[in-house]
Amino acid sequence: MPHTLDTEALEANAAAVGTSAAGKRTYVQRIFSEIAPRYDLLNRLLSLGIDRRWRTLALRRLGWDRAPQGTYLDLCAGTLDVGAELSRMQGFTGRIVGADFAEPMLRAGSGKASREVLLPVVADALALPVRDGAFDGAIVAFGIRNVADLGAGLREVHRTLKPAARFVILEFSTPRMPLVRAAYLFYFHHILPLIGRMISGHKTAYTYLPRSVANFPETTKLAAAMTAAGFRDVQWETLTFGIAAVHVGTK
Ligand SMILES: C[S@@+](CC[C@H](N)C(=O)[O-])C[C@H]1O[C@@H](n2cnc3c(N)ncnc32)[C@H](O)[C@@H]1O
Repeated sequence: MPHTLDTEALEANAAAVGTSAAGKRTYVQRIFSEIAPRYDLLNRLLSLGIDRRWRTLALRRLGWDRAPQGTYLDLCAGTLDVGAELSRMQGFTGRIVGADFAEPMLRAGSGKASREVLLPVVADALALPVRDGAFDGAIVAFGIRNVADLGAGLREVHRTLKPAARFVILEFSTPRMPLVRAAYLFYFHHILPLIGRMISGHKTAYTYLPRSVANFPETTKLAAAMTAAGFRDVQWETLTFGIAAVHVGTK
């Protein structure tokens, strides 16, 4: 994918984020398509490698061992890290659909697992091309925050799950402890965008990240949104001083 930077259009789209669902969709799809070649490297660098541990922990909450031969959804799969890790888990004999609407992200992750086990599918989280009750479980890592209509996204996942299947959300959160919070906010709003911009060459993608986290519902509100979308027994835990959180709901 050629790395084209149309900064004026990006700024215009950035301004639309949060005010228009269509604007957000176009903007998000575009920035992830543009940063795809550097996405993995920046993830490791900016999180000091903690993101891997968070994904492993989130996968443990999926309960895939109840149906190891089942079919699972890795939603907003990006470069397929979550799906690839699930495919490598001892005892897992099922299949995974890695769905993302930014094709360059999926392409950047191809090769992390065989297509027979982990199938990348270009699809919008708001209109998944699968029948009702197709999946034995679903997981989304750092993706649901980007979906233009949270409620509709949650309902769409609910539709695609079998009864009693789990949905796991791993997402950034904002720490509450004052000192940690101050340090985190400084890093997230000042250091991270700088490094992100230097390495990705992208002007706005890594300023969008902290802004999107700030605009995303905090843990109790996300749990309430999951319940409103039809999930029961919704629970969550915070990770690494509250920098991230894992929510789990059951259909
Ligand atoms: C921050 S990345 C996370 C990727 C991956 N899950 C991970 O853990 O690294 C967010 C991904 O969500 C995708 N995304 C955002 N909104 C989407 C939507 N409505 N439908 C499908 N994918 C979407 C983006 O294209 C991007 O690849």
